[in-house]
Amino acid sequence: MSASSYRTYRPKDLTELVGQEHIITVLRNEAAADRIAHAYLLYGPRGTGKTTTARILAKIVTCEKRAKDAAFAKKGEPCNECQACLTIDAGQALDVVEIDAASNRGIDEIRNLKENIQTLPSSFSHKVFIIDEAHMLTPQAFNALLKTLEEPPAHVVFILATTEFEKVPATISSRTQRLHFHKLTLQEIVAKLEHIGKIENALSEREALEMIARLADGGLRDAESLFDQIASLKDGQVTVKNVERVVGAVDFNRIVDMSAALITGDRTRALDILYQVHGQGHNLFQFNKDVTEYVRRALSLSLNPSLEQWFAKELAQTELESIKKHAARINEKKHVKLVQDLITAYMQMRYNPFPIVPFEVAIIENTAEAKK
Ligand SMILES: Nc1ncnc2c1ncn2[C@@H]1O[C@H](COP(=O)(O)OP(=O)(O)OP(=O)(O)O)[C@@H](O)[C@H]1O
Ligand SMILES: [Mg+2]
Ligand SMILES: [Zn+2]
Repeated sequence: MSASSYRTYRPKDLTELVGQEHIITVLRNEAAADRIAHAYLLYGPRGTGKTTTARILAKIVTCEKRAKDAAFAKKGEPCNECQACLTIDAGQALDVVEIDAASNRGIDEIRNLKENIQTLPSSFSHKVFIIDEAHMLTPQAFNALLKTLEEPPAHVVFILATTEFEKVPATISSRTQRLHFHKLTLQEIVAKLEHIGKIENALSEREALEMIARLADGGLRDAESLFDQIASLKDGQVTVKNVERVVGAVDFNRIVDMSAALITGDRTRALDILYQVHGQGHNLFQFNKDVTEYVRRALSLSLNPSLEQWFAKELAQTELESIKKHAARINEKKHVKLVQDLITAYMQMRYNPFPIVPFEVAIIENTAEAKK
């Protein structure tokens, strides 16, 4: 693969955005009715489409075809063909200013911005200011921004993006239209990876894609870059073996085996698996985390079966079925302790020169010797 897929496959319009239907609907309707707000706050977890959406929105605001063609404007999308759309995609638009608050905390930028918003756009209909990682702005920068948000000139649109909504002062966020980005479901991530795989002609196993999606924990950027990394190995195939090799993660069957051994208290089996996984050089931290997740899901499901609807978003169907089966074998007291011990072991592993030891102790404490 030549370019990083997360750059190549950045959606160019709202139609290409995966998940986030609620946001797509709101923005399309506003664009169709020509009621774009003067300030937006896009917030939510890493790699779920905030910066992508900010740029699409910048194109919608400035798109020349939308301004000229009323029928087209009703679509609520950018045309991706006019000068404005093309220069924004190329990252060369003077009237679209991207400020990365993380790299310089924004004081000078916001000061410049106050002057900058007074002047009219140089070539587009509007000026758009995208303030990424907005939670990193200093209090002074937030103050300066607040003043401009109170009386924004008609030709200006602000788009703030952040992973940490709580760190944005309420005085700021209350003056914006807030759009909450969700984690993507496992199915959505797998579907996008499958799509990329087809275009890139990379052979990929369904199970491997599910593994990548699970590791990415709802974020598409991480999923795409891991996919990329694996697809650019010598054999270029996204197989369970290759995913294991690159991240040291363990395939789901072994997570199930270990979880089953722990849930049923089978010490011999659990230790066998631990040593196998360790011996093959897999990442024990990830393995502990995966097993903890499995057991705690079985535990939660046993206590509240309706949680299935949430787990269905994070897991493949076969995984969910397997966890449901184990939920039937849960003993609340015993397995709450098991989860606690696995978490404690995880934390101890970080400071231990032999990370296998805390894991091993947790196993021993939560299983019994086979009856002779
Ligand atoms: N909802 C999505 N639909 C399609 N692709 C997505 C989506 N979210 C993320 N991606 C992919 O991941 C890449 C990174 O997305 P983006 O930069 O928009 O994430 P972000 O939410 O701004 O993340 P961060 O909080 O880390 O800045 C995009 O180039 C795209 O390939
Ligand atoms: Mg971003
Ligand atoms: Zn356009």
